[in-house]
Amino acid sequence: MSFTYQNGELHAEQLPLSAIAEQFDTPCYVYSRHAIEQAWRAWDQALDGIPHLVCYAVKANSNLGVLSLLARLGAGFDIVSGGELERVLAAGGDPAKVVFSGLGKTPEEMRRALQLGIHCFNIESAAELERLQQVAAELGVQAPVSLRVNPDVDAKTHPYISTGLKENKFGIDIAEAPALYRRAAELGNLEVIGVDCHIGSQLTEITPFLDALERLLGLIDQLAAEGIRIRHLDLGGGLGVTYRDEQPTSPADYLGAVRQRIAGRELTLVFEPGRSIVANAGVLLTRVNLLKPTAHKNFAIIDAAMNDLIRPALYSAWMGIDAVRPRDDAPLLDWEIVGPVCETGDFLGKQRPLALAAGDLLAVRSAGAYGFVMSSNYNTRPRAAEVMVDGSSAHLVRRRETVSELFAGESLLPGA
Ligand code: LLP
Repeated sequence: MSFTYQNGELHAEQLPLSAIAEQFDTPCYVYSRHAIEQAWRAWDQALDGIPHLVCYAVKANSNLGVLSLLARLGAGFDIVSGGELERVLAAGGDPAKVVFSGLGKTPEEMRRALQLGIHCFNIESAAELERLQQVAAELGVQAPVSLRVNPDVDAKTHPYISTGLKENKFGIDIAEAPALYRRAAELGNLEVIGVDCHIGSQLTEITPFLDALERLLGLIDQLAAEGIRIRHLDLGGGLGVTYRDEQPTSPADYLGAVRQRIAGRELTLVFEPGRSIVANAGVLLTRVNLLKPTAHKNFAIIDAAMNDLIRPALYSAWMGIDAVRPRDDAPLLDWEIVGPVCETGDFLGKQRPLALAAGDLLAVRSAGAYGFVMSSNYNTRPRAAEVMVDGSSAHLVRRRETVSELFAGESLLPGA
């Protein structure tokens, strides 16, 4: 375990969180190197012995410290923008292990990725396929492609993070996929290599994944009969984690079930996990600024806010909130854990039983995925620092922003 209580205080690996707050101030994201490595290995080892590529979904946490750690472990990367591609390069990632997802790739992004020789473009529409052909032809190269198929399965997760249903904007209707594959096979500068899907995020059951897999295998067989050979099958990301009391299937059990179903086929398995690698490898460390008990509710106003961590406001997500040093000299009350931002939606937790005093440190758990990356400067709040703990040392992997940086690119109007 990477975040545990030792001598009455929550630690990140061997470091007390209060020491991190003292050195780097709050709010601050704290990651555990050990937890990331462990989560990565759970994926990689479960695929041992068969051809596979695990492409960490950069969007979940794109800090260069995190990416460089994964690059050293041999990870591939799933990117959705030219910006993420540059991050992967800056972190020492191998472009030959990159898959490019996302439904609005620009010609510039395609060009850069082609020049770097990425592993595969995950294509989401007929128009995008034609565009890639054109860009590849201009460069005189072959673009490796997979079609992101929409298998129309219900991921049974929050509607905002469910992506595999017919009505979603993502992917290509599985019924229309064969025609588009035929078109891709015809185009001279495309090389059909794979098929992919991503049906949603924070899935705790694997039945929807296995249903999607069945449909993709059916498609692969149909294409084979037409002479179009699919070499890799990419099932996307989406495996859930425990935030509260969810009991998600482990990577080992999930991948075991997938391996069983593809046995005997010549396929490379590709996955794009994000959350399951980093979510529980991070906390958001924050300090109680003021206590405001009222006749109706008790508000604990902390120094982090919705701009730092938007998941509770955006998805009604429940994130664990623990006192770094639990105290017994204050009453246990139900607290609304809120930030100072001028929005009623600015809360990180509701009705949390805690014994609190102003100045106390709190840790918002499971904040390693979709935490810092979704933060903003709303209310002109500098974004938090990010720290990676390794044993008993802490590395600042992103310094806190300064206020002057926030408007450095802006200008006054000319004239009087
Ligand atoms: N591949 C594709 C094409 C994706 O769209 C995503 C996530 C992933 C992989 C990684 O999925 P994961 O393993 O992390 O579930 N901001 C939301 C989650 C949005 C997920 C978007 N796509 C949240 O905070 O819950």
